[in-house]
Formats: sequence, C-alpha cells, structure tokens
Amino acid sequence: MTAKEAELVPEAIDLTVNGRPRQAHPRLYPRLLQALREELGLTGTKYGCGEGLCGACTVLIDGKAVRSCRTLTQSVTGKNIVTIEGLAENGNLHALQQAFIDEDAMQCGYCCPGMIMNAAALLRENPHPEKIEIIEKMDGNICRCNNYSRIIAAIRKVADQ
Ligand code: FES
Ligand code: FES
Repeated sequence: MTAKEAELVPEAIDLTVNGRPRQAHPRLYPRLLQALREELGLTGTKYGCGEGLCGACTVLIDGKAVRSCRTLTQSVTGKNIVTIEGLAENGNLHALQQAFIDEDAMQCGYCCPGMIMNAAALLRENPHPEKIEIIEKMDGNICRCNNYSRIIAAIRKVADQ
C-alpha cells in the first residue's frame, strides 16, 4: 500500500460486535481478523492460513459467513459482526456449540469456531438441511484433525431438531 492509499484508509470505524457498539482502527489492523483478535481481544476467531482457504477465521457479517482474514476492516463500517463469543445467549450455549460437545466433534478444537460459525450461517438460511447440503456448505472448512464425520454429525443433530 502506498502512502497515498494509506491516507484513504479511515483511522477509526464504528461497527457492532456481538451486539455491542465498538470501534476498530483499520490503519493499525487492516484485516478484520486482526481487529477482532488483536484490537478487540476476541481470540475465539482463529488464524489458520491467512489466505481465505481454511475457514478457521469465519465470522458472521450481517448474518453471512465471511472469512475475516481476507476482509478489510474498513469494509465493515456500520456492520453487525458476530463471533464465536457472541453465539451463546443468556449464558446458554448455542445449539451448535452444545452439539459439538455432545458429539465429541472437537479434538484440538482449532477449526471449531470457524466450523460453528459457518454452520450457524447455513442453519440461518436453511434450518433443516439435508446431509449433502451440510457437506457441501462445510466443504471449504478444513479440520487438520480429520474429525469431519463427527463435525457433520453435530451439525446434523441440530438440523434434525
Ligand atoms: S485463516 Fe482465514 S480462511 Fe484460513
Ligand atoms: S478438531 Fe483439530 S483442527 Fe479440527
């Protein structure tokens, strides 16, 4: 980025994160993943590849699953972001979080926040997807522990409720 381009980046933006009004600083934290983890302290969202290829950094932006490592912080001005820390309500785990526990879908757990956020977006669009739809939607999220069958079982458990 040239100095002139950097000048066009706003110093601060307003956004909503997990229901709270927050500020982020795109010049210091150009990617949303950096702003969430390093500026706002929301380390539940994980850094995997940094290239948009693994899904570990998935969050919801206005209800859609988005890879925060490839999202410019300045582009989320005024938007509503939900991270894994914002899924539980009133102290109760989201159904997907509970299902991941019940189905033993976490080994190291590193992929799970991104998996859960991606699945949450799917279930918002389609609360009762078929198994093949779940597999297709989750295909871009990588689990290095190869725990896919349990992850899919956890999502199916919620989809079948
Ligand atoms: S860290 Fe964003 S897709 Fe891998
Ligand atoms: S549980 Fe380890 S990366 Fe998926």
